[in-house]
Amino acid sequence: MDIRYLGHSAFEIETQGKKILVDPFLVASPNYKPEGITDIFVTHGHGDHLGSAIEISRETGAPITAIFELANYCAKQGASTIDIGLGSWQNYSWGKAAAVPAFHSSSTPDGHYAGCPCGFVFNFEGQTIYHAGDTCLNSEMKMIGEVYEPDMVMLPVGGKYTMDIEQAVTAAEWLGATAVVPMHYNTFDAIRVDIGEFERQIREIGKMPMVMKLR
Ligand code: NI
Ligand code: MN
Repeated sequence: MDIRYLGHSAFEIETQGKKILVDPFLVASPNYKPEGITDIFVTHGHGDHLGSAIEISRETGAPITAIFELANYCAKQGASTIDIGLGSWQNYSWGKAAAVPAFHSSSTPDGHYAGCPCGFVFNFEGQTIYHAGDTCLNSEMKMIGEVYEPDMVMLPVGGKYTMDIEQAVTAAEWLGATAVVPMHYNTFDAIRVDIGEFERQIREIGKMPMVMKLR
């Protein structure tokens, strides 16, 4: 498994020769070439998450997995799609994934209803990774910890629109994961944080902070 951080809440996860893109908003990685993408996951319709998903799907043929209403929007724009609801595991060529609750809002770039926002849990190579999308701290994370038992969690820490560092530390405890990856911070002024503070607080609760560098 190889995880590449593309900035904001965007990640490219490589497993077994397949590549999964999550929330491909690529302003921080303008030179990134989406080659050999197998699947794209989008947590909600906001521009900083939908990003280049539709264009990449059109170019590569990789389907976008998203909540029903958002998937329909993407399909109308010419993307290939896999629609889902919050619920059970769905199978993919590289493993399985489930959409889980996120507390936020969701609309398409032209202002239409995009269904509920979500997070995703991925399972492959015996590892479970949780990408929270945009969300506040919420008690569903206790359920996600108990039911999915994630090894690694990707949590927004920038505050303002999502959890802040302190709330992400509580989330990390509830989720029970060992490795905690911060996201959704420092992309613009409203979500600027001291990421060293995140590292300090995550270490304090005996977990591993994984601040990923762009590459
Ligand atoms: Ni959002
Ligand atoms: Mn966002």
